[in-house]
Amino acid sequence: PVTLDSLAERTGRYYGSAVDNSELDDTAYADLLGTEFGSTTPGNGMKWYATEPQRGVFDFTAGDEIVAYAQAHKLKVRGHTLVWHSQLPGWLENGTWSARELRAILKKHITAEVRHYKGKVFAWDVANEIMNEDGTYRENIFYKTLGPGYIADALRWAHAADPGVKLYLNDYNVEGIGAKSDAYYTLIKQLKADGVPIDGFGMQAHLALQYGFPNDMKGNIQRFADLGLDVAITELDIRMILPSDAAKLAQQADWYGQVTKACLAVRRCVGITLWGYSDRHSWIPPVFEGQGAALPWDENLRRKPAYDAIAHAL
Ligand code: XIL
Repeated sequence: PVTLDSLAERTGRYYGSAVDNSELDDTAYADLLGTEFGSTTPGNGMKWYATEPQRGVFDFTAGDEIVAYAQAHKLKVRGHTLVWHSQLPGWLENGTWSARELRAILKKHITAEVRHYKGKVFAWDVANEIMNEDGTYRENIFYKTLGPGYIADALRWAHAADPGVKLYLNDYNVEGIGAKSDAYYTLIKQLKADGVPIDGFGMQAHLALQYGFPNDMKGNIQRFADLGLDVAITELDIRMILPSDAAKLAQQADWYGQVTKACLAVRRCVGITLWGYSDRHSWIPPVFEGQGAALPWDENLRRKPAYDAIAHAL
């Protein structure tokens, strides 16, 4: 059967969708995930709050469940995410840590999780959302306690735990050229010059019709590829102000086509992952009030115009 992944595969790429553990109980949804896609990312199952709920006590149940599902359906898995300011366990967020302690905590977390998923995930979002919109470092707990060196350390520890897995930095609002993507460009160039292991740059691509299409997405992907990196579109969705109508759905379809073309225009853009594939299960409505309808399948798992635009562009 023709699927988004089979179309992407013709140019050596994958087409994926994130999935949350609870969504696997929706069998119609899980079945379509397993047939249409070639890759998946746990929506929450590999985050710190889930994997180390108590200090030094690891729980990989949620991530393992998604890996098992993926293996049964021949999907690859992107690991998401090792270092992030959000969805941290309470013990970590509410503790007061010296630099020495936090460095040890971070190293232990990364080492344990990357080792556990060695050979089971092909890529890791090692650090997620580490920059502000103006291109300065986000002042998360790691930055405040350890300074910017935590990023290179995290990459080195991840590499030591699994030398074969692809290591990414990942963020939103970096699809176009601007202060934030410039900051990543500068940082990654420096990391490379310093011999720090880094393989890829992930563009989340949580786009919104009301904010306009990102400036020169293709050129932006190309400049990261030219640093010797893989680029992946990691969390694609294109939301709109509800209610949806035919005009908005047509514009959304056009944007999905444009994102697809921007990736396909660059050899080292390796694949695209939707952040969930249908409006039935999407993180958008609860987080962005009055917005939604962001995915290529609707609540009834029927294809929207966006699906055809993606298939046509692939
Ligand atoms: C989201 C999940 O989809 C939600 O279920 C959760 O409540 C919050 O996080 N950027 C990321 C993802 O890197 O981890 C986020 O996922 C969406 C934004």
